[in-house]
Amino acid sequence: MKTEKKIKIAAICGSPQRGNTYGILKMLKESNTEIDFNIIMLSELNLTDCLACYSCIDKGEENCPLKDDRDIILEAMNEADATIFASPTYARAISALMKKFIERTSYLAHRPPYFGKYAMALSTCAGFGADHTTKFLREHFTQCGFEFVSSLELKIASKTEKETAHNRVIALKEYGKLLRAIQTHEEHKPSLGQLVYFNIFKGISEMNKAKGWADYRFYKDKKDFYYDIKIPFVKNRIAKWIANREIKKMKANK
Ligand SMILES: Cc1cc2nc3c(=O)[nH]c(=O)nc-3n(C[C@H](O)[C@H](O)[C@H](O)COP(=O)(O)O)c2cc1C
Repeated sequence: MKTEKKIKIAAICGSPQRGNTYGILKMLKESNTEIDFNIIMLSELNLTDCLACYSCIDKGEENCPLKDDRDIILEAMNEADATIFASPTYARAISALMKKFIERTSYLAHRPPYFGKYAMALSTCAGFGADHTTKFLREHFTQCGFEFVSSLELKIASKTEKETAHNRVIALKEYGKLLRAIQTHEEHKPSLGQLVYFNIFKGISEMNKAKGWADYRFYKDKKDFYYDIKIPFVKNRIAKWIANREIKKMKANK
């Protein structure tokens, strides 16, 4: 008998409490018990502040001097088909906890490993600002290779039955987009912006190879993008031209 592989989702919650943001994740988890849905509460793990020593960026992430739970979170993301990045909106932005996680894993934006994996951004707020939060999450984790297929901004203010039911409908709709993307798994086509970033990071890795050899090692055999894919000729030329212009500016400022 053919056994279907279970879909795996990692949901990283940047709230300091099992509150509104956790409540939405729990509801999504319970909406489909066939899915292996792993909620990771950053607040319940030991995650230390980044020391800004640059070891992860320059020498490789295994050289981080902080020995804590960082890799538990990364393991869950590596194993999952998709990750939900969930943060409450605090002062119109992501929570300090989510920012800490992002700082501790900043090297992922230099050496993105998550191509082929899907993502959803989620933020709850009381009034305004959730769109700032999800925009930041999308921009940052896209640079780490994730493909965002859904984004969910929920206002949780009155907690009336009407508000809860309304939020549930929107949340399930966005979650449905994520599940469909995993099931259909269409080939990712890099955007012009992603091609420009690739070429800039590759150029910088060559410029700084003596010091930042982790990036150099990562980029040296890569040609037009992070993985083998045929890029349309003109798009590729434009991306390289924009990237070279930026790299020239950097060299001039050195
Ligand atoms: C420190 C702090 C700052 C907040 N800032 C905002 C804000 O800028 N905009 C907003 O609409 N709600 C704001 N809120 C409300 C939360 O976004 C909202 O209650 C959210 O659902 C809380 O999620 P949680 O229960 O997972 O922490 C803030 C709450 C706190 C504790």
